[in-house]
Amino acid sequence: MIMQIVNGFSKLSKAQKINWLVTQYFQGDLSVVSLLKSYWNTDAQLQKLHDEFIENTVTNFYLPLGVAPNFIINNKTYAIPMVIEESSVVAAASNAAKFWAKRGGFKATVLSTEKIGNVHFTFKGSKEKLVTFIDKLQPIFRNRTAEITRNMEKRGGGILKIDLVDKTTELKDYYQLHATFDTRDSMGANFINSCLEEFATVLREEIFKHQDFSTSEQESLEIIMSILSNYVPNCLVRAAVTCKVDDLKSAEIKNPIEFAEKFVQAVRIAEIETYRAVTHNKGIMNGVDAVVMATGNDFRAIEAGVHAFAAKDGTYTSLSHAEIKDDQFHFWVDLPLALGTVGGLTNLHPMVKFALELLGKPNANELMEIIAVAGLAQNFAAIKSLTTTGIQQGHMKMHLMNILNQLEANEAERLAVETHFNERTVSHRSVVDFVENLRKQS
Ligand code: MEV
Repeated sequence: MIMQIVNGFSKLSKAQKINWLVTQYFQGDLSVVSLLKSYWNTDAQLQKLHDEFIENTVTNFYLPLGVAPNFIINNKTYAIPMVIEESSVVAAASNAAKFWAKRGGFKATVLSTEKIGNVHFTFKGSKEKLVTFIDKLQPIFRNRTAEITRNMEKRGGGILKIDLVDKTTELKDYYQLHATFDTRDSMGANFINSCLEEFATVLREEIFKHQDFSTSEQESLEIIMSILSNYVPNCLVRAAVTCKVDDLKSAEIKNPIEFAEKFVQAVRIAEIETYRAVTHNKGIMNGVDAVVMATGNDFRAIEAGVHAFAAKDGTYTSLSHAEIKDDQFHFWVDLPLALGTVGGLTNLHPMVKFALELLGKPNANELMEIIAVAGLAQNFAAIKSLTTTGIQQGHMKMHLMNILNQLEANEAERLAVETHFNERTVSHRSVVDFVENLRKQS
């Protein structure tokens, strides 16, 4: 298939872009145009808003926004908005929320809120002179970023520290400015990157004014890049649940001691076995990402940072931990979460506004707590299923709707399927066979 390289695509109108795509990739099939248009919002103004979030928008891509009610977090009740395509996630969260609501709810605490950014540069010369130079620059870094930091400082945030880090043993001539920031309720990416780029300019300009350096030292400085880090091990939140082991007893948990011991063992396995840890943590991220998405935060940043944190001691391990101590069951997770409740999409996307309002307009710290709890709840629900009934029972029950939709089942067929599979394990094949049989009979 030989396609034409298109120039100036971004300059075309939306209709022209669609026309080009349909001609190039769909043999001019007009039903593709109708499909794309069927996902446009009927409110042209609202559609324009979405069109302008990114470049070359041709339509919208729906994901469901569901709500998991009955979350008690630090004695406050929440209905948590979740954006996710996986059928069982909201149900699992709701289940765990209800379970723990009867056992004191979730406790969450923000442990630290520091964000990080680096100016990566190379320098060939005396390290001692470089250290003195960076010391001297400290007030200049502050002065030169005063415009950028003014508003952030009014809100109680700003630049915390700018350190010189010698990385030359790992990479020849490589140094960094390692800067820490407090960005309050904003995620802070723009703020941090603007500060860093200004630090880089200061470095570049001031080195020529610093007489201690030789000309070759001055000329050797090269800024490689200036960028925030999505690794935020000091922007940390802990979510936890605890209760007496006996209090774990429920309709599903007949033997709480056996349950608790098996649960702790399952978490231990994730602590020492990478194959399991990755899936275990993926389950945590089912809850985390869904709320991150609903609240307009950057799930790629969160994912990258969380998994780096899971590997911080050199081996990828479980993010959550569990123990039984003095007849108490304890289960907790520590997550690095750099989030914003102001800026970014928060004021723009109507569904993000809705989600934040539903959560009672949390500040960034509260949102860290809520999201960590969503992760812990998801992890609890997954381990509970895995160590008791197995995951497929609940998962396939929720997936049943998708199978029925694929089969375009009518109301009568749906009812028959639901009754038949009420007490049976659902599999894709068994549902297809059952519906085909129904259709043969009628
Ligand atoms: C599926 O999306 C998530 C689980 O695999 C998590 C886990 O195994 O803990 C169920």
